[in-house]
Amino acid sequence: MDMDLSLDIVRVTESAALASARWTGKGNKHCADEAATSAMRSIFSSIPFQGTVVIGEGEMDEAPMLYIGERVGNGFGPEYDVAVDPLEGTDIVASGRNNALSVVAIAEKGKLLHAPDMYMEKLAVGPRLAGKLSLDDPLESTIAKAAALLQKDITELTISILDRKRHADKILLLRGLGVKIHLLSDGDVAGAMATAFPDTGIDLHVGSGGAPEGVLAAAALRCMGGEIQGRLLPENEQEHQRCMDMGIADPSKVLLMQDLIGDSDIYFAATGVTSGDFLSGVKFMYSNRAETHSVVMRAKTQTVRFIHCVHQLHDYQLGSA
Ligand code: FBP
Repeated sequence: MDMDLSLDIVRVTESAALASARWTGKGNKHCADEAATSAMRSIFSSIPFQGTVVIGEGEMDEAPMLYIGERVGNGFGPEYDVAVDPLEGTDIVASGRNNALSVVAIAEKGKLLHAPDMYMEKLAVGPRLAGKLSLDDPLESTIAKAAALLQKDITELTISILDRKRHADKILLLRGLGVKIHLLSDGDVAGAMATAFPDTGIDLHVGSGGAPEGVLAAAALRCMGGEIQGRLLPENEQEHQRCMDMGIADPSKVLLMQDLIGDSDIYFAATGVTSGDFLSGVKFMYSNRAETHSVVMRAKTQTVRFIHCVHQLHDYQLGSA
């Protein structure tokens, strides 16, 4: 990947964040998502590359924009695969809560797992724990091992997990161990990424969330020296068949970084839509200006850039939601 795509892809996530942030707290997740998707798609068309969406808003028959297989980019230049989540945390924005992001990853062709829309069990960590834990181990021993490796008492560890009924057993176990639990209302891409930003204080992310979000988190963590491991959780015959069709004969197999994103160089960008653990959200200001905070990074160089941008909004970006 010769061209430096950093500024191009951060423009993509900024525009999606600016568009969806107008819907913050308005109780309408569909409009928030549509605004993000449409803005993202339009900026993509100005970038000199030939992209194919491999993780997107859904299959062609269920998503009008940024569907799997859609071609993006201006149609000239190198061929890349693209993973997007224009609005990661649709309910977060609708209900005006924290941690919604707009995210994009661009990778070499054929390297990203075409993750089906089903749950994936996840274990994500930052650089200090990368390569040292296994999703196959019982959670209790993973926590003990993590504490020892980080030279912390177990009670000083902070673990993030989506606040879901299906996690009741894990949360009970973690409470019993005395760790600090950071419950997320939504948004496990941010949850996984937070483990690689030391300032967040979050040591591990556990529990299940969307499989496509697992691939996006892997792309981000590769750029930061972190790691995510995943296990697909097909819930019915149809989902089981999806795994088979993808060549995953044993869905209970732990998927490592190599399985999720191969050895690809990757560009990854995220812009905060609402404020979260490592990025501030969009702030609309006087005179039709708005501020965004983004992170854009590259796997090959492991450069992590934080971009704070002030935008002069155009007519099409103005108006109330
Ligand atoms: P959306 O933005 O598509 O609503 O996803 C939000 C999210 O919280 C993801 O971060 C997570 O992977 C998934 O939903 C969890 O799914 P569920 O809400 O069914 O537990």
